Amino acid sequence: MNTQTSPKPRPATPLLAALLLCAGMPLAAHAETVAAVESPGKVLKVEVDVSPQGRVSYRVQRNGKPVITDSALGLRLRDGAQLYPWFALQSQKTSGVDETWEQPWGESRTVRNHYNELRTGFAETGRDKRRMDVVFRVFDDGVGFRYEFPKQPNLDKVGIIGEFTEFTIADPESAKAWWIPAGEWNRYEQLYRTTSLDNVGIAHTPITVRLGDGTHVAFHEAALVDYSGMWLQRIDSGKLRAVLSPTSSGAVEKQAPFTTPWRTIQIAGDAPGLYQSSNLILNLNEPNKLGDVSWFKPAKYLGVWWGMHLDTQSWGVGPKHGATTEYTKQVIDFAAEHGFRGVLVEGWNTGWDQDWFANGWVFDFTKATPDFDLPGLAAYAKAKGVHLIGHHETACAVSFYERQMKDAFALYEKNGVDVVKTGYVCDAGQIERQDKVNGAVIREWHDSQWNANHHLRVVQEAARHHIAINAHEPIKDTGLRRTYPNWVSREGARGMEYNAWGEPPNPPEHEAMLVFTRMLSGPMDFTPGVLSLTGKNGLEIQTTIAKQLAQYVVLYSPVQMAADLPENYAKHMDAFQFIKDVPADWDATRALNGEVGDYVTMVRKDRNSADWYLGSLTDEHPRTLKVKLDFLEPGTTYQAQIYRDARDSGWKGEQRFKFERESRDVTAGDTLTLRLAPGGGQAIRFVAPR
Ligand code: NOJ
Ligand code: CA
Repeated sequence: MNTQTSPKPRPATPLLAALLLCAGMPLAAHAETVAAVESPGKVLKVEVDVSPQGRVSYRVQRNGKPVITDSALGLRLRDGAQLYPWFALQSQKTSGVDETWEQPWGESRTVRNHYNELRTGFAETGRDKRRMDVVFRVFDDGVGFRYEFPKQPNLDKVGIIGEFTEFTIADPESAKAWWIPAGEWNRYEQLYRTTSLDNVGIAHTPITVRLGDGTHVAFHEAALVDYSGMWLQRIDSGKLRAVLSPTSSGAVEKQAPFTTPWRTIQIAGDAPGLYQSSNLILNLNEPNKLGDVSWFKPAKYLGVWWGMHLDTQSWGVGPKHGATTEYTKQVIDFAAEHGFRGVLVEGWNTGWDQDWFANGWVFDFTKATPDFDLPGLAAYAKAKGVHLIGHHETACAVSFYERQMKDAFALYEKNGVDVVKTGYVCDAGQIERQDKVNGAVIREWHDSQWNANHHLRVVQEAARHHIAINAHEPIKDTGLRRTYPNWVSREGARGMEYNAWGEPPNPPEHEAMLVFTRMLSGPMDFTPGVLSLTGKNGLEIQTTIAKQLAQYVVLYSPVQMAADLPENYAKHMDAFQFIKDVPADWDATRALNGEVGDYVTMVRKDRNSADWYLGSLTDEHPRTLKVKLDFLEPGTTYQAQIYRDARDSGWKGEQRFKFERESRDVTAGDTLTLRLAPGGGQAIRFVAPR
């Protein structure tokens, strides 16, 4: 830990700047570097500049080469002058942290938090002298920065209508971007676009960019609390600017003292390095506020679910009703027989019978349908070591749900339900907020300030009942699982359900895309493992069997579904064995290889045994990948149980179902050759000696 304080007042010269402007001279050229900080291993360097007009900006280099060039900082306010020009540096302070903390569950047991911090204190040179601190935390594989506004005389309540925050990518002509658009009707469940950086419009984060020299960069945010989500708009070649998700009042409402969420820039030499750099997002969040959360058990689950998406069952009561006592018992029996802890039941409560998509104001979260015996099933499940997983679909009548939430969680708690899947099905911008019963209904965005706060109200109320939350149609993940470790997973991308519906099904590149984009932000309830490889009306799911298995290792979630129907698993018991074996909680994780949207190989060590697991998958192209097994414990012989594509496997027609199993002994000194079919994959369990 080193601390150094050096006040460095720098009087801005508005008159000179105005003269320069009149003379048409570029102001940026006259900016002065007023502060700098390097990452602990001196890989990254952040420099902070102030222009003659007092405009604050920052730059980032990696190994001496610019990655982010002159990028503005500041906030756009609804009332009064913008928090933008005429700032002067008042103070700067550097410090460092190197600590390791333990996750209650996760991709790895421990996380190293190793950064150098630069705290810059600015004040306006004009009459108001408003103060704005910008704090940078610089890791070897990324940067986080945020604005902090101390309590002060001339800044109290503010409405933030936008940010001047920029991310200017060096060498934009050679940069390629992977992104989904923000501000459209669909929230985050979109196919990723691969474009040049200059063809990005308004994007959600994480957005991933590869520079011409192979450097990989991802922009996102950490600790999105009481603020609107950040979108990024391309405003000039290479220049992305923060746009805040709209709010009903037209601004993010804050009162000093306050801080913004952290704006994050992950930077790595390649795609696997980018995946590994995501710990930065967790590190920028506050430590666990819930204390002991050992009541949450990472586990796999089955569900009364896929049938509804195939349309062979229904959420509403009637001849096709899925959530009947009888059918749920069958799924519980299957779960118990094959060692699954959870059984999700959707459509168990009243309100689904009408047009639920259009009206969430009829859902009752404490009233089961007449053909669903909640206490009876909870007892039946318990006797077999199975736990029901609850479901609260709000259809976006969010205030109405909040009013019922306490009783709804109490009911589930009484019945031994310790994980609840929530849902927010409606178009973007259609979250329904009603502050008073019978009051006006106000529409908010899924990632607005109000809805960000809503999610935390849910998570905290659920924690009081020892219930974990898995949100669908959620707000994006910004690492809050560190602070609230019962916020265990979420959707927030195109999951398996699109393979049931078509429109269109997920393309072969989808998972290799997700892992280096959406998954950078945290766990996803993708709901893998549909071994029948068939959606509604015979629609082909565009993967092989082995790739469905690989998803369990590649796409991390501490609640991991086996999404297919029990009767379909019964037809694929050989492949199903891997789904039975694979854990949902890990001691260590390594991305071994990969390219965004092309392929990836991930290995993870089980948290509760010495076994390792490997998942590798590819897009529509076949690949042969050599993988060194040096992650295994040296000197130990493992039995590698291999589930792989056959020579004639592929993602179309009958080829999808071709797969092979093989077992052989391996050690850390071996290299395996993974042969992946078009749209295929491979899954391996490395069993350590018992
Ligand atoms: C969309 C969710 O993603 C899906 O899993 C769920 O079954 C439906 N909404 C109904 O809540
Ligand atoms: Ca969904």
